[in-house]
Formats: sequence, structure tokens, C-alpha cells
Amino acid sequence: MILDGQEKPISEELRFQLSIVRRNISRLENMIGNLVEFNRLSSGTARLFEEPVIIGDMLNEALRSVALAAQDKRISLPPEVDFHSRYNLDRDMMLRVFLNLLDNALNYTDQGGEIRFELLETDSSLAIRVRDTGAGIPQDQLEKVFDRFFRANSSNTRRHGGMGLGLSICREILRLHGGEISAQSNPGRGTVFTVSLPASRRAG
Ligand SMILES: Nc1ncnc2c1ncn2[C@@H]1O[C@H](COP(=O)(O)OP(=O)(O)OP(=O)(O)O)[C@@H](O)[C@H]1O
Ligand SMILES: [Mg+2]
Repeated sequence: MILDGQEKPISEELRFQLSIVRRNISRLENMIGNLVEFNRLSSGTARLFEEPVIIGDMLNEALRSVALAAQDKRISLPPEVDFHSRYNLDRDMMLRVFLNLLDNALNYTDQGGEIRFELLETDSSLAIRVRDTGAGIPQDQLEKVFDRFFRANSSNTRRHGGMGLGLSICREILRLHGGEISAQSNPGRGTVFTVSLPASRRAG
């Protein structure tokens, strides 16, 4: 850090404070993005601006956005995705889906945890899974987490000042694309969210 033209090493304490500021900025970015999208989706006039999207490029962009936050929290992210299939998607909307899934995985996973992607393309669909090693979600809440404003009542959730909007937005975006999003969890061991897109969206 440069103060008064003199370069000084920054203390551990300052480094820690900066990492918190950085984390809060990235959370605010996600919240603002969600509010804009929520507004657009609620107006009932949301249209898809479709274009052929290389799935790997979109996932790598989402990874880059959360890289610093993951580093600060010492959670390992998936390696760069090498997957070149193209799908006709609204790029901004689908990016928002993965930003939300990664934001959640980071928030609800403790230090030292791991986030992974799994991709499975078949004749009928493309499934993209986001898997974490976090606190998990109780069985009876696996559907409720997609409701607007629903937040699981755990201390882990309360520690983060979210609005309970992210997953409801994801579900609406997938509905508009003719796809689906669902959750499976093994409480205490982690959660996996599966985003699936119909093969009819494949852009060749
Ligand atoms: N990966 C996950 N692991 C454990 N619990 C999760 C995970 N993702 C979501 N949840 C639970 O589902 C709830 C709803 O998630 P959602 O993303 O809709 O809202 P939020 O993260 O609370 O707030 P927002 O996304 O609007 O900032 C969360 O509050 C949390 O309790
Ligand atoms: Mg969220």
C-alpha cells in the first residue's frame, strides 16, 4: 500500500479488514443485481434476449466474479471449465443464476470447504450441478428455499444479511428458459443444486 509516496507493507489486521470490505462489496453487487432482475421479472414483461452462449465461458465468468471472495474465505472453487457446447440463452440472466448459486455456496459453507461443478450433457438435456460441502438444507426445506423471501432458520443463514430472493429469481429464470432448478442435500455434508436446460436450446 502506498501512503505519502512511501510504500509500506500492510499489516495482517488491515489485510483482514480489507478482505471483509471486499466480501461486502461483492455481496452488495449480487444484491443490487438481484433487485434489478427481480424488478424486471416482476413486471411480467421480462423477455429473453437469446444468443448462443458457450457454457464454459459463462461458468468461467461467474467463477472469476467470486474468485477473490472464495480466496478470502479459503474455499476452493472448481478449476476453469473446458466445455464448449453452445446453448441459446439470455446470457445475463443465466449468469445471474450461477452468480447466485456460487454466492450461496460461499455463504453457507465454512472455511476450508469446497465447491465443484459437474456437467452432464445427454440427448435430452444439459445438467449443470453446483455442489458444496457446506451446512446443507433440511429435507423439508428443499422446495421452500425457492420461495420468495424464504430463508432457512439456521444460525448459519442468519449470519448473512441476504434477502431470500436469489433462488426464487433463479427458478423464474429457468422457467423462462423451459428448464428447471432443484436442490438435493445431505445435511451437515453439503448441498447440490442442479440446473437443467432442454436439448432444444442447443445451438449446434
Ligand atoms: N448452498 C446452500 N447451502 C445451504 N443453505 C442454502 C444454500 N443455498 C441456499 N440456502 C438456504 O436457502 C435460503 C434461500 O436462498 P436465497 O439465495 O434465495 O436467499 P439468500 O441467500 O438468503 O438471500 P439473497 O440471495 O437474496 O441475498 C438461504 O437463506 C439459505 O438458508
Ligand atoms: Mg442467496
